[in-house]
Amino acid sequence: MKTSLSLVEYIVQKKRIHTEMMWPRRPKCSNDSTAVLVFVLVIFFVYTLMTYNEAQKENFKDLEGIEMSEGRMNNATLKLLEGIDVTEAVTTVTPEVKAYLKIAIVIVITDDTDPENYRVALDSMECYCKIHNYDFVLALDTGYNCTHTDKFFRRHCVVAKILSDYDAILYLDADVGVVNPERKIEEFLEDGIDITFVNRFYNWEIAAGYYLARNTEYAVGLLNDFADYEFKLPEGSIGTDNVALHLFLSEKLLPNSTLEVDLCRKVFNASQNFADLFSFEACIKTYFGVATHFGKVRIMKKGTGWARDGWLTSMVWHPELDFMLHGWKTNELVETPKEIVGAYQMIRNQWYNPMNGTIILAKCNPENTTWNMDSRFMGEKEVILASLRAFERDVAREQVRSGSRIDMLISQPDKPKRESPNTRDADGRLKKYFFW
Ligand SMILES: *[C@@H]1O[C@H](CO)[C@@H](O)[C@H](O)[C@H]1NC(C)=O
Ligand SMILES: *[C@@H]1O[C@H](CO)[C@@H](O)[C@H](O)[C@H]1NC(C)=O
Ligand SMILES: *[C@@H]1O[C@H](CO)[C@@H](O)[C@H](O)[C@H]1NC(C)=O
Ligand SMILES: *[C@@H]1O[C@H](CO)[C@@H](O)[C@H](O)[C@H]1NC(C)=O
Ligand SMILES: *[C@@H]1O[C@H](CO)[C@@H](O)[C@H](O)[C@H]1NC(C)=O
Ligand SMILES: *[C@@H]1O[C@H](CO)[C@@H](O)[C@H](O)[C@H]1NC(C)=O
Repeated sequence: MKTSLSLVEYIVQKKRIHTEMMWPRRPKCSNDSTAVLVFVLVIFFVYTLMTYNEAQKENFKDLEGIEMSEGRMNNATLKLLEGIDVTEAVTTVTPEVKAYLKIAIVIVITDDTDPENYRVALDSMECYCKIHNYDFVLALDTGYNCTHTDKFFRRHCVVAKILSDYDAILYLDADVGVVNPERKIEEFLEDGIDITFVNRFYNWEIAAGYYLARNTEYAVGLLNDFADYEFKLPEGSIGTDNVALHLFLSEKLLPNSTLEVDLCRKVFNASQNFADLFSFEACIKTYFGVATHFGKVRIMKKGTGWARDGWLTSMVWHPELDFMLHGWKTNELVETPKEIVGAYQMIRNQWYNPMNGTIILAKCNPENTTWNMDSRFMGEKEVILASLRAFERDVAREQVRSGSRIDMLISQPDKPKRESPNTRDADGRLKKYFFW
């Protein structure tokens, strides 16, 4: 049993961490720290100082006092927390506790990431965080003593480190933007669930590019183990963290199905190309089935999470369906047509800007949840649902087709492994898709 902190002690402690975390972390390692520090400062300069303004000063002032925390809690929460173990309190996500959790949105970049290429998405995310008093953490992955050689594994180690400073973290790819700032991250926190993954919409993959994690020993351990899975992959394996996530999760969550998972492992071992990897994922998904809850881990059904790809519906969205859209890279932005008719699937590495004008960070605060969105993308709910549903049906069909290759793959004699090709684009998505 942990020692109970008094409420005031707890708030003071939280406050301190919170204030520290408003600033980018200092790199912990000392060897190449000067270069790293300079880079972090440059990033910091671009992202924070440029947007520094009176409103933000107000925020900082608030954060130094204790009033704001109390303001965020109602009397029921105060009563709930008085004299009880706060660690227990935050693992029970009652509505009262949700109201006071310290939450951050975390985006991990590498030193070859050009933030300009994600400007619209990052601005929408930063503005969104200001509205709901979440911290916005843009983390450079060299500053966290994570020694993984593959940046896609390294990022999960970075997230695990940052998680210890928060109650919960929503980890996102850099090209995810908010379209509906009224929605809150808390709605995805579920009692008893430490980490929530989502199924990608356009295939049958569990997304490695976004998840919601609570600060528990289990979640931190899971993320570290996932990052370290880099070292467990057999020599010459193709694919990276997105493919590995399936083996990792099945080992962790299906301990009574080792025989079945080993069948899939044979598919993985035999994989020579993308088609094979997709068949491997279909194999694993067979054993996860359509269930969503696996102990402390939740894997949300397609389309029910916080984000989906924008191209699925030509960026058309509806406030009752959508929260965030994925795929906002400046170099893939195309000009919005005069009229958008329906919610059709567009070329997948293109997007239209759903905002009318640009986000003004100085005007982002809890009182302002109205953004000027381009009205051409505000679609009809039924039209969007019908379009997504039809697509979902195609994906289910493709999953079966891909799964039908499993027998062929495990029957063939062992082939020598190929050199691991560069299977991902700069953003971490598989480069090539061969179906539909
Ligand atoms: C980095 O990690 C290694 C291994 O976990 C540890 O021995 C070392 O002390 C860490 N260094 C810093 C600066 O945190
Ligand atoms: C909360 O409790 C304090 C003291 O017990 C009381 O003065 C205050 O009115 C209460 N606030 C609400 C909103 O009930
Ligand atoms: C695995 O099997 C054991 C023994 O039947 C059972 O107690 C346990 O709950 C099972 N674990 C899972 C994750 O299904
Ligand atoms: C897959 O390959 C690894 C490493 O080469 C090997 O240790 C393992 O036994 C193989 N698994 C199966 C099920 O073939
Ligand atoms: C609210 O924030 C948006 C986004 O920056 C901005 O465009 C809009 O002008 C703001 N509205 C008000 C009333 O400040
Ligand atoms: C964009 O915003 C301007 C100014 O509020 C408005 O007049 C215009 O109709 C908007 N355009 C679209 C396509 O939403």
